Amino acid sequence: FSYPLPANEPVLNYAPGSKEREQLKATLAQLKSEQIEIPMYIGAEKVYTKNRVPIHPPHERNFILGYFSRGDKKHVQQAIDAALAAKEQWAAMSWENRANIFLKAADLIATKYRFHMNGATMLGQSKNAYQAEIDSACEIIDFLRFNVHYLSEIYKQQPISSPGMHNRVEYRPLEGFVLAVTPFNFTAIGGNLPTSAAMCGNVVVWKPADTQVYSAQMFMRILKEAGLPDGVINLIYVDGPELGDVCFNHKDFAGVHFTGSTCVFNTMWETIGRNIGKYKSYPRIVGETGGKDFVIAHKSADPDVLVTALLRGAFEYQGQKCSAASRAYIPSNIAKEVKKKLVDGVRSFKMGTVEDFSNFINAVIDEKSFDKIKGYIDRAKKDKDATILVGGDYDKKEGYFISPTIIETKNPQYVTMCEEIFGPVLTLYVYPANQFEKTLELVNQTSPYALTGSIIATDRYAVELATQKLSNAAGNFYINDKPTGAVVGQQPFGGGRASGTNDKAGSMLNLYRWLSARTIKETF
Ligand code: SER
Repeated sequence: FSYPLPANEPVLNYAPGSKEREQLKATLAQLKSEQIEIPMYIGAEKVYTKNRVPIHPPHERNFILGYFSRGDKKHVQQAIDAALAAKEQWAAMSWENRANIFLKAADLIATKYRFHMNGATMLGQSKNAYQAEIDSACEIIDFLRFNVHYLSEIYKQQPISSPGMHNRVEYRPLEGFVLAVTPFNFTAIGGNLPTSAAMCGNVVVWKPADTQVYSAQMFMRILKEAGLPDGVINLIYVDGPELGDVCFNHKDFAGVHFTGSTCVFNTMWETIGRNIGKYKSYPRIVGETGGKDFVIAHKSADPDVLVTALLRGAFEYQGQKCSAASRAYIPSNIAKEVKKKLVDGVRSFKMGTVEDFSNFINAVIDEKSFDKIKGYIDRAKKDKDATILVGGDYDKKEGYFISPTIIETKNPQYVTMCEEIFGPVLTLYVYPANQFEKTLELVNQTSPYALTGSIIATDRYAVELATQKLSNAAGNFYINDKPTGAVVGQQPFGGGRASGTNDKAGSMLNLYRWLSARTIKETF
């Protein structure tokens, strides 16, 4: 049975006076009054523990939204047991009955829980209304609907047969359980990582970042309302090392679907390697990790296209997208104009809580992140190599606020040109306009990452040259656009080198990793 290609979920704009803005505001007030107690979801059980962890909006750090129950190793084991107990029935379920659960979940978000999902993402992760809408409403809905379509296309692919024989391929789930580990920065990644594996017939243990629990549990409740059977996805909140200790030592560990830091992914990979003899099959290791995403402009660039790409690419969601523009190479002929427009643009941004919809910039996710970003800014204030053009302020009294900051450096290897900061900090390097090709080489070699990047140029030879020379420097390459905001079904997303395994989220390439094919030949 085939599921046709869906259309992308339309984005609501929450304009002043719109009905959706009023509904979202009412939902925010309701969520803030709930003081929710959040359990883990293990099999049929909602598990509460004595280890209650308070959840604070990053922009209002003294307010408590609710509490989640932190688990330990015992809960990891229980989640694996529940997953394995659900496996046989889930894997045997017909594709249509499996797929329709995820389609129903998408419809529930679109029509019934849109403002809850967005409200949870706004309060829990400090995203403004528009950034929440494209993430926790549209992108999740798209992941669910497009993955159902892609998977139904995969299931249709069959080998040829000839007289006297028949060949067929069965696309089965992996043998064992899949671990999904998801980050704070996109609720949609929490929506995609566990469900893409589960859709293929796998059973899943899902651990979101502590700072994503609030939106993750809301999505889990929607999956349950859509009819997801107990044990298919088990949602637990535990420390990473405890999770790894149990999962990576388990004979039924079949794969990990990860988004997070390069360092954690490397540790996972090493641990899995050390334990390789313990598993029934070679585990699938799929990860999207860090980025140090570039924007390079050619001397033919339209300065306004460049400025928009940088302002939006670097500062939307406080730069906390793995795709965020964080190093820019600007040709000398337009540098003065571009710098002025960037500084003016940043000065026009309003910063504050998500509840005031006119704020473009909200808080960074937590204290650890605040301290890390602040460290880079403080260093730039002292270093001779760096000049702060705008921003450089921070304040954590009410929430983790860091002003959008632009650093200029004359050293293309300066620390903020090389290291991932994951915050609202953009570094500029002005290069001699006649040295485009040499600068492309610099772009290619400065960072170990290869997630996203942009070329801004009107000269088609420059576009061509950049496309060729930067072939391995970005898994998502944008021409005359910002390097963020990939849309499911339009720009399959992921990168190589230290940015991950490039198994493109929301595409067939990704879904294949959660399938284990059996070829059956019968001779008549
Ligand atoms: N998919 C997001 C983007 O393209 C990042 O995870 O911005």
